[in-house]
Amino acid sequence: MIEEIESLNRELQALHIQTAEELENFRLRFLSKKGQLGLLLDRFRELDGEAKRTVGKPLNTLKAEAEKIFRASRDAFEQSGGTVTQFDTTLPVRATELGAPHPLKVVEDRLCDIFYSLGFDIAHGPEIEDDRHNFNALNFAEDHPARDMQDTFFTSGHVLRTHTSSVQIREMESRTPPMRLVMPGRVYRNEAVSARSNCFFHQIEGLYIDEGVTFADLKQTLYYFVQQFFGEGTKVRFRASYFPFTEPSAEMDIWAGTDTEENRRLTKGTGWLEVLGCGMVHPNVLKNCGIDSEKFSGFAFGLGIDRITMLKYGISDIRDLFLNDVRMLKQFRGS
Ligand code: PHE
Repeated sequence: MIEEIESLNRELQALHIQTAEELENFRLRFLSKKGQLGLLLDRFRELDGEAKRTVGKPLNTLKAEAEKIFRASRDAFEQSGGTVTQFDTTLPVRATELGAPHPLKVVEDRLCDIFYSLGFDIAHGPEIEDDRHNFNALNFAEDHPARDMQDTFFTSGHVLRTHTSSVQIREMESRTPPMRLVMPGRVYRNEAVSARSNCFFHQIEGLYIDEGVTFADLKQTLYYFVQQFFGEGTKVRFRASYFPFTEPSAEMDIWAGTDTEENRRLTKGTGWLEVLGCGMVHPNVLKNCGIDSEKFSGFAFGLGIDRITMLKYGISDIRDLFLNDVRMLKQFRGS
């Protein structure tokens, strides 16, 4: 019996399991009750005390070894998706999970495309800003309430930009007119978080500086964007407003309607959703950036990306955009 055990052990050591079939054969031969090892174990049980002692140890070792080889081969099999050392071209392909762009990115790209088609270039600026670019050069008076601790996040000597208008300043400082730019990015405000507002959100800034730019150009540009983005016939309205860096200033609402629960919530029941602030660039701002305000004029606008994303996709809580819930994000695959 000792000899049989030894020869089986040699066979075991020489084996290379490569396919599922070989793995199954191995199991039947070595591990099943009716296999070679099983039969040896049966015979072992019949032996008397003395013989049991001599055969017991090598037999146990063989059994443990066979089980070890089986487990290791099976695990390697599972990990490699079916093969141990060879690539089996007949195995079915494992589907890989495809990622999806975030809805805000989908909308940002679409907006950039629309403005690009009108001749606007794309520019970016830093999220950590200095007072000059976020406020001062934009004609904010020293005591303007927006500088207050309530709205602005301060870091040592800097602010987290509260709007993308800071990028306007950077671009006007470094370029010479004419210029036509859109500037997308994240902005931060120290506001109470709710379904409608978050402490950070996204804007796309627009800027057009040239000789003879008028408010009519501004309105037509924005009107074009709305028709392109939301579809022909989408209603808009302009309301007079105030920003230190534009004069005259306006806000633009678009008609979202009140037919869905989301839209009623988003528009506080009015059907109108405020999506942007805009106006003619204040001469002081041009001067602050070294642009001749007698020769050049321009318009600017700042559009809230999160708002229109919510409207476009029927999302009623802004916080849903930042949960990173794959079940939600997956829906934008292919957008
Ligand atoms: N920066 C303004 C805001 O964040 C929007 C704006 C941009 C208004 C450009 C006018 C011109 O609300």
